[in-house]
Amino acid sequence: MKAVVIRKFGDPAGLEVRDLPEPVPAPGQVRITTEAIGVGGVDAVIRRGALAAYGFREGHLLGSEVAGLVTAVGDGVDGSWVGRRVWAFTGLSGGYAEQTVAAVGDLLPLPDGLTGADAVTLGGSGVVAHFALERARFAPGEKVLLRGAAGSIGITALQLAARGGAGAVAVTTSSAERGTRLRELGATHVLDRSGDGPDAPVGFDVVIDVVAGPQLPLFLDKLKPNGRYVAVGVVGGQPPADFGTHLMDAFRRSLSFSTLSTDTVPAPERQAVRSSQFKAAARGDLRTVVHATLPLDQAEAAHRKMDAGTVFGRIVLTP
Ligand SMILES: NC(=O)c1ccc[n+]([C@@H]2O[C@H](COP(=O)([O-])OP(=O)(O)OC[C@H]3O[C@@H](n4cnc5c(N)ncnc54)[C@H](OP(=O)(O)O)[C@@H]3O)[C@@H](O)[C@H]2O)c1
Repeated sequence: MKAVVIRKFGDPAGLEVRDLPEPVPAPGQVRITTEAIGVGGVDAVIRRGALAAYGFREGHLLGSEVAGLVTAVGDGVDGSWVGRRVWAFTGLSGGYAEQTVAAVGDLLPLPDGLTGADAVTLGGSGVVAHFALERARFAPGEKVLLRGAAGSIGITALQLAARGGAGAVAVTTSSAERGTRLRELGATHVLDRSGDGPDAPVGFDVVIDVVAGPQLPLFLDKLKPNGRYVAVGVVGGQPPADFGTHLMDAFRRSLSFSTLSTDTVPAPERQAVRSSQFKAAARGDLRTVVHATLPLDQAEAAHRKMDAGTVFGRIVLTP
């Protein structure tokens, strides 16, 4: 089968299409013939070699999120999975391929009307948006700021906040064109990457942040007293070393700062939310944004787009 591996860490040119043996499902796993493969930010981080200390080496087969057809099951797995269209988390490897394997607990059947591309755009990121708002104790009427809203996490979070009755949903983005698209999805205020903009609301109840980086303290200052900040990503890098001091300086405003990884959310809760979001997307109540769909053998081009920061939503590969 055709698959994409990291021949050499660094530039996207280090990705290589290879012929590999078809994977065999281990006990508790299924084999999936892929129809859509999500290209995530973490794939680019692994490709650059930044996670080598965690065991990701050159030769690694990328990809963590696919949709496709179950074609075989391993020992202990109900044979009725064969023939079903599913979304699957493949565990940070194996997804960039014509065939892959996943644990049966990481599968979700796709509802009718949901494309594979929609599923891999929403599957991993939608739950982050949901549980980040839950962790922030978001309530109707509150003012929400979404930092880095042009990615698939932000695009879902802004729809959930708007649908949840937010008093305002402000977003940060780098261009007016993206701002227009985010308004179409439910944003009420479009701010630049520093959080400035015409009629920018003052005093947010909730900030959901995909970016972090050097400007994180600036955004902490945008919370009103008792405001809640939830950091879910680091696309802008780590915050400054004195961030903790900055947080303590704001002591009298009783701010809450937390991080949220869906790895800590019990799997049945994740799957229940994902299933509900898939149904909402199939009905047209939740929109997904597929930036581009490219053939698997153009994974290098997909990574170049990600590195250039031109992706709005998610890139999807098809075998
Ligand atoms: N918490 C979890 O459980 C979890 C799960 C999966 C992934 N993640 C994390 O989520 C992040 C990816 O999320 P995503 O796919 O939604 O985001 P993304 O598409 O990678 O980025 C979202 C947006 O952030 C803006 N941005 C990029 N670099 C920036 C910078 N230096 N300063 C300010 N804004 C910047 C860009 O929009 P503009 O150009 O419009 O500003 C970009 O489109 C990764 O850090 C990943 O590790 C977390």
